[in-house]
Amino acid sequence: MILGQVTAPEPDAILRLMRAFAEDPRPAKIDLGVGMYRTEAGETPVMRAVRAAERRLWEAERSKGYVALAGDPAFLEAVRGLTLGDAAPEARVAAAATPGGTGAVRQALDLVRMAAPGATVWVSAPTWPNHVSILEAIGQRFRRYRHLDPATGALDRAGLREDLGQVRPGDAILLHGCCHNPTGVDLAPEDWSWLAGLCAERDILPIVDLAYQGFGDGVEADAAGLRSLARAVPEMLLCVSGSKTFGLYRERVGAVLAVTDGPAAREAVAARLAGLNRQAYAFPPDHGARLVTMILADPALRAEWENELAGMRDRIAGTRRALAEALRRETGSDRFGFLAGQRGLFSLLGATPGQMDRLREEHGLYAVRDGRINLAGLTDATIGPAARAIAAVLG
Ligand code: LMR
Repeated sequence: MILGQVTAPEPDAILRLMRAFAEDPRPAKIDLGVGMYRTEAGETPVMRAVRAAERRLWEAERSKGYVALAGDPAFLEAVRGLTLGDAAPEARVAAAATPGGTGAVRQALDLVRMAAPGATVWVSAPTWPNHVSILEAIGQRFRRYRHLDPATGALDRAGLREDLGQVRPGDAILLHGCCHNPTGVDLAPEDWSWLAGLCAERDILPIVDLAYQGFGDGVEADAAGLRSLARAVPEMLLCVSGSKTFGLYRERVGAVLAVTDGPAAREAVAARLAGLNRQAYAFPPDHGARLVTMILADPALRAEWENELAGMRDRIAGTRRALAEALRRETGSDRFGFLAGQRGLFSLLGATPGQMDRLREEHGLYAVRDGRINLAGLTDATIGPAARAIAAVLG
């Protein structure tokens, strides 16, 4: 009996919450759980440029035949331009399309495991739970470095530098490109340059997870830090997601990019990434990747996309300010003022799991038990009730 020996894993906290929310019959329930952008109407729409590209693709596409193990080269080139810009020449970059950003993280970490099974991968404390889950699944050793200062809601710069000061040559550091998940606290330019110096000097591999480009300060601004890193280090891995930036969640659009130190490494890494795809699922999904390629290559579609993305970014920033203000009114303090200055979908309320349970059970407010809220889940109508619930439970 092989199957009879299988034990169920601990359910993923974020996905368990999605299910519980769907099953809750209370009409006033509020979903601040899974990280998806939502409009003021509570919808996660197909972006306008995506709809236009889909229409064109439907007219033009004549075959669904396989493309290539690493995906469409035009897609990889478009993603390289979008993320790395001119920070790393094509001749140094190997890449492969993956199913979503998670696929990219998995392939990147598998690559590290193959090349350096003894390496330690340093992850931020806290980080997206799936980073840890994947590292555990592949049996790669990891350690945590401080990132958030809970007292101020800002970067724990001294803690981060002290912890990463211990990283040994040959190890890797997993970083969030922008809109850190779950804290909303990003690295400043001075942190990126400090990291660049550390990685270059000690032969440390930076791995950057970029899932929210355009959700923080802008498409270019959100890539500035990782680009400065790419300019300064001999090698780097970059895991890109098209889920949020293009709203293509269920299409699974992603890519792993490897900045290598030259043509020989580039060739070997490219072949290895294609091989990893082959072993895991053969060919990566193509439909969403093709839409992204069309949008990035066509100036009108690109402008339309950037425009809509800017609107999404503005809505998130406005919601942050409005919730911080509502909480200032409810609590009579500036305790939650940090929400306004953080970036992207997420922030940590600084609540205990028990308080998060009370928010859910008593107030129908669903958010991850580590205290993470998805700001885009709020609307003008729910900011007030959410602030009252948070003040009542945490105040
Ligand atoms: C999240 O953090 O909520 C998103 O990235 C969705 C996911 O897959 O966890």
